[in-house]
Amino acid sequence: MTRPATTPLGVGDAAPEFPLSISHGDARETLSALRGEAILLVLASPHWDPACEELPALYPGHSAGAAAPRVVEEHRLEVARLFGVEDATALFVIDEHGVIRWRYVAGVDSIPQSSVPARDAEPADGAHAFPASMSRRDFVQSALTAAALLAATTLTPRQARADTGASQVEPGTIAGAARITLNVNGRSLPLDVEPRVTLLDALRDRAGLTGTKKGCDHGQCGACTVHVDGRRVLACMTLAVMLPPSAKITTIEGLAQGDALHPMQQAFITHDGFQCGYCTSGQIMSATAMVNEPWGKGDDDVREAMSGNICRCGAYPGIVAAVQSVRGATKEAAR
Ligand code: FES
Ligand code: FES
Repeated sequence: MTRPATTPLGVGDAAPEFPLSISHGDARETLSALRGEAILLVLASPHWDPACEELPALYPGHSAGAAAPRVVEEHRLEVARLFGVEDATALFVIDEHGVIRWRYVAGVDSIPQSSVPARDAEPADGAHAFPASMSRRDFVQSALTAAALLAATTLTPRQARADTGASQVEPGTIAGAARITLNVNGRSLPLDVEPRVTLLDALRDRAGLTGTKKGCDHGQCGACTVHVDGRRVLACMTLAVMLPPSAKITTIEGLAQGDALHPMQQAFITHDGFQCGYCTSGQIMSATAMVNEPWGKGDDDVREAMSGNICRCGAYPGIVAAVQSVRGATKEAAR
């Protein structure tokens, strides 16, 4: 087993390896032997057993023909500790590459931590948050909805593990793939990508970080803006294999600190800096970088600095106001 984590592992973390306590079909002994398919890992106390008897009735149906995720249930405290969970019920959805894509830890998360698009991941009744009093039935149903969506959006027949007895998906199962490690939002992310895969597609399709948007895919709209070592970069114009593991990539998911929004995110809300929101993550990533660049003080300077980020909704007045409010606050703080 790997070393216990001190805080719950989050979305984007690699799932730790551990010996399975229950046989899952073939002669498989560890979690990584299940690579190639989405897994719903249930860490539950022996007194709370949501994944057994009720499961077939709770599964909300296959979305877009997706296969049901394999449910792996663990009651051992040492396994929970590997995921940074102590004395709590927790669900983790682990994708086919062994990366955590969805998390809910009772007592820690007020809402599920997810890289599945929030709109799609909402339970059918529209409820978005997990109230403390949530029933275990609702809890499991929401988890399964997210897991089904995860499977529907990420697994392709080629990526799915063929039931050939192979213990795990090797890099060679994607033709020409190379194993790279990206440092995204402070976490190391091992990925198997072909050399032609852009950073944008690696983030969205492989890592599940869909906050970064694809607009033009040709370097013209700015919707895909992320930071690499603090500088703004168009993810659609950057090949993932170009980035060394030491390059610190920040996406919109990495700006907020827990429930506390980054000041620029809050400013966009305060100043109505968006309408449909599609360009907004790119606008905010661009804006958070430009406040550290040597631009003049005026609104025209902001317009010039942000001219690579197109907003079809024309929310430019609010965007400029939001950026200027943060720049002003930064200057005030520096005095
Ligand atoms: Fe990258 Fe438009 S999607 S610039
Ligand atoms: Fe709609 Fe900018 S808010 S494109």
